[in-house]
Amino acid sequence: MTMNALKIIRTFALRMSTVKIKDKEFSTFISAEKIQARIAELALELNNDYQDKNPVFIGVLNGAFLFTADLFRCMKGDCEVSFIRVASYTGTQSSGAVKEVMGLSSDLKGRHLVLIEDIVDTGHTAVYLMETVKKLEPASVRFATLLLKPEALQHDFRPDYIGFEIPNDFIVGYGLDYDGLGRNLNDIYTLIA
Ligand code: IMP
Ligand code: MG
Repeated sequence: MTMNALKIIRTFALRMSTVKIKDKEFSTFISAEKIQARIAELALELNNDYQDKNPVFIGVLNGAFLFTADLFRCMKGDCEVSFIRVASYTGTQSSGAVKEVMGLSSDLKGRHLVLIEDIVDTGHTAVYLMETVKKLEPASVRFATLLLKPEALQHDFRPDYIGFEIPNDFIVGYGLDYDGLGRNLNDIYTLIA
């Protein structure tokens, strides 16, 4: 069998792959290969933009832990990484008001910061984070997200670095969860039933 035929079969198999998490079924949406290829492209841009600036990458837990790690290991030269967590008032609803940011270091004054999110949905979290972080008087703040749901966005906000723009459907995998599960999937899956 030729390499090409193998590749086609594999792509087909990937497309057909489904997973069940609790009561819901998901099918493959963005393959691990596509995710990694896009991260390499974003890293090229970031390496270019932050050359000799010793940026601080701030990953937003839990969802962005894998994206932050994979992006960070593509960075060249001096750079730092840390993580924060955002606690919301209301359970799992993305529309819930953002309560507080935990783990934010106070010594970010004068530093070049890049906030890293897994996904921007309504944009509530992103806008709140940008406002909170700017109070620390950094030299600059930019926002990187692996995924953006433009149809769900409720703010006049555009992330500086975007991996993929996706439809307004619920997804899991590569750090993103459904009820705490699915973060360990290497591909990203979308809800089908
Ligand atoms: P936002 O504040 O509405 O933009 O929500 C951002 C957060 O909601 C993300 O960081 C995720 O934790 C979560 N979220 C939004 N959409 C999804 C999804 O499709 N799957 C899993 N988590 C999501
Ligand atoms: Mg997140």
